[in-house]
Amino acid sequence: MKKILVLYYSRTGNTEKMANAVAEGAKSISDVEVELKYHVDAESLDSYDAVLVGSPTYHHNMPVDFKNLFEEAAVKKISLKGKIGVVFGSYGWSGEAPKLIAEIMKYKFEMEMAEAPLTAKYTPDQNMLKACQALGIKVSESLMNRT
Ligand SMILES: Cc1cc2nc3c(=O)[nH]c(=O)nc-3n(C[C@H](O)[C@H](O)[C@H](O)COP(=O)(O)O)c2cc1C
Repeated sequence: MKKILVLYYSRTGNTEKMANAVAEGAKSISDVEVELKYHVDAESLDSYDAVLVGSPTYHHNMPVDFKNLFEEAAVKKISLKGKIGVVFGSYGWSGEAPKLIAEIMKYKFEMEMAEAPLTAKYTPDQNMLKACQALGIKVSESLMNRT
């Protein structure tokens, strides 16, 4: 069975709402296993077929947890090549983190970035949560179509 990881960080709950909606969408497609997590070890990343990262922007950057995770994965030469990657997250005014993470996933880890980052200004509204669900559905469907 194909496995999807929805990994997120959130201090005030905005990115968490998005992550819940992404995971809900992904789970609505049968024959796909979805794990929603706040923390994973770098070694476990290669057990997933798709990695969806939810990150808010703090101080123009990604949370240190994600920096450490990507650094660990790089040092330990964890191969994520060809896996599907997606990034989303809430921001306040500049919103750098999703773009930075998407670049690392694409250029360092050679993941297939399925979509441009999905971002919400502060609290995601209903339309944004629907877009998050649709994103999860899209990833699950594209995994189902992969051999
Ligand atoms: C201390 C602090 C620093 C922040 N720095 C930025 C920033 O550099 N750029 C930005 O777009 N938003 C910034 N924000 C706004 C957060 O990204 C925004 O509140 C977001 O909704 C937080 O997501 P979360 O609820 O998932 O933690 C900052 C917020 C705080 C409290």
